[in-house]
Amino acid sequence: MSTPARPSPRRVRGEERSLAEALRRLSPYLEGIRWRWGAGLASAMLAGLVALAIPQVIQQLVNSVLRPGGDASDVWTAVAIMAVLGVAEGALVYLRRVFILPPAAGVENRARVALFRRLQRLPVSFHDSWPSGQLLSRSVGDLSLLRRWIAFGTVMFVVSIVTIVVGLGLLFATSWILALIYLAGAVPIMWRSFHFRNDFRAASRLSQDQAGDLATTVEESVHGIRVLKAFGRGGEALEGFRGQADTLRGTEVHKAAVLSKFISLIVALPETVIGLSLAVGIYLVATGDLTVGAVAGFFATTAVLAGPVESVGQLMGMSLSAKTAIDRHAEVMDTPVDIADPEAPPAGGTAVDTPGALAFRGVRFRYPDVAEGAEPLLRDITLDLRPGETMALVGLTGSGKSTLVQLVPRLYDVTAGQVLVGGRDVREYELVELRRRVSIAFEDSTLFSDSIRNNVLLGAPERVLADPAAAQDLLDLALDTAQAQFAHRLPEGLDTEIGEEGLSLSGGQRQRIALARAIAARPEVLVLDDPLSALDVRTEEAVTRRLRSVLAGTTTLIVAHRPSTVALADRVAVLQDGRILDVGTHAELLARSADYRFIISSFEADRSIESVMDSGAITAMTGTEGDRA
Ligand SMILES: Nc1ncnc2c1ncn2[C@@H]1O[C@H](COP(=O)(O)OP(=O)(O)O)[C@@H](O)[C@H]1O
Ligand SMILES: [Mg+2]
Repeated sequence: MSTPARPSPRRVRGEERSLAEALRRLSPYLEGIRWRWGAGLASAMLAGLVALAIPQVIQQLVNSVLRPGGDASDVWTAVAIMAVLGVAEGALVYLRRVFILPPAAGVENRARVALFRRLQRLPVSFHDSWPSGQLLSRSVGDLSLLRRWIAFGTVMFVVSIVTIVVGLGLLFATSWILALIYLAGAVPIMWRSFHFRNDFRAASRLSQDQAGDLATTVEESVHGIRVLKAFGRGGEALEGFRGQADTLRGTEVHKAAVLSKFISLIVALPETVIGLSLAVGIYLVATGDLTVGAVAGFFATTAVLAGPVESVGQLMGMSLSAKTAIDRHAEVMDTPVDIADPEAPPAGGTAVDTPGALAFRGVRFRYPDVAEGAEPLLRDITLDLRPGETMALVGLTGSGKSTLVQLVPRLYDVTAGQVLVGGRDVREYELVELRRRVSIAFEDSTLFSDSIRNNVLLGAPERVLADPAAAQDLLDLALDTAQAQFAHRLPEGLDTEIGEEGLSLSGGQRQRIALARAIAARPEVLVLDDPLSALDVRTEEAVTRRLRSVLAGTTTLIVAHRPSTVALADRVAVLQDGRILDVGTHAELLARSADYRFIISSFEADRSIESVMDSGAITAMTGTEGDRA
């Protein structure tokens, strides 16, 4: 559970796509499906026409057999023809599925992979404002709806319409009076279906969005289950969930009501009309205007039409849901990726003049979701780190330290000014290249459910990974530097799988694995955002000392919280009120800056709490001894 109340997703508003436009949006995924879809449609269409041919045979049969002196052998001919038609219809239905189902699953798969790729490319600011459940429901529920719609909905919708049109033609050919009566029942259905379209679209969009919100709640409470349990908030979480689930249920019921009203109309009306037609039909036979066979054929045709007439509304509902799914997919896909590779290589070539140098030049920064007029969080930040230098960044909580360091690997882009790595603006690098040169360890260390080995070697250079011995050396060095030797003592050593997000490790253990991961990436510039905050003072000092010798050639910017770490840095930069207040050695700053002394003394205050924790309380709480190396 990160922040309890997240802003609602920024929607790409004001553009209601038509169904045709939505379909055009799908075209990148439709490769290879077009002809098969066409073949499937042709099969389904033929199957529909075969079904309509059967009443014609019935009409002939009734007229020839029942006419005075009729020939009984006609029955066998008719039966044979009907059997052939029945087998043909079955085979065509089978063919439709064979043609369409596999490529429809392919479309679903391509759309899902494209969405995932997009989510990986979209900047961190996108993920700040989009709840994860929305993304989950978009990548799973919406896309499987889309597959069913492509495989079944689209084809059957076209086939139903064609069947209805051709069937009506046959009805008119049989008797225009009876056909008009039948049509009188169909017109109100068409009129209703116009309103149904709008009502159902609104309900369908609402229910899909609410399902996304519900998924977010589930995701958050499963993720934060420890917090909920520890604070005894399970009941409240359940209440909240129940409220949301009730709202969704209400929407679903409303959606079902809209649909069932429409369906009841399209079922009841034709049946009433058939009763009326029957009376008129018998009258017409009595007056000799119509043959008995024609009446039989008429009703057999209306029986064939009943299916398409009943399902056409549902298929329309499905098309609307599918359109909503496409819109929701497009919202994510159309969100601009504003942190991307440069469009053209920089004019001065791609050579780096000073490998390892890191500089901030007049950097201003405001979070993308903060109002334009607001005072920027960071203002006129100018800092120069020489290659190989270790600089500590200190400041009070909320002063913007984490924000500043995230600008280096371009997790966010500066609002104004420049960040330079190796003397080149970070925006001139391809992202892969930049992130190869820069590596970062966060305070809140996220690990993946994988082995310790794979977690640590996540960002290791390819050439090292290619050589198992070298990879092992790098792994050992990284773990050793991060004081994470405890990993060797885990049940299966470095191949121990750690649970989801590393929750089976203690906070301090996780931080050290994350630190080892940053080290193993062998970067030119290492950015450490308070990566030792969960360690006790002695382990932290040991890590810092080892870091300095192992990373002698690596430029390091470290957000620090403890005087001991700060003292080991070559220089210290003080961040206050969004500006760099002063830069100097620890001793110089202590001597000349009252603000610095104030900040450091606030760290000392923290330290007295740590000494209490050091006395064993923390070990008792986490139940691990690894933190006390
Ligand atoms: N993603 C975000 N969107 C908007 N504001 C943010 C975001 N992340 C942090 N902030 C705000 O920026 C300020 C600085 O945060 P941060 O850089 O984390 O400070 P520090 O690391 O120095 O404690 C805080 O007021 C915080 O609320
Ligand atoms: Mg921070």
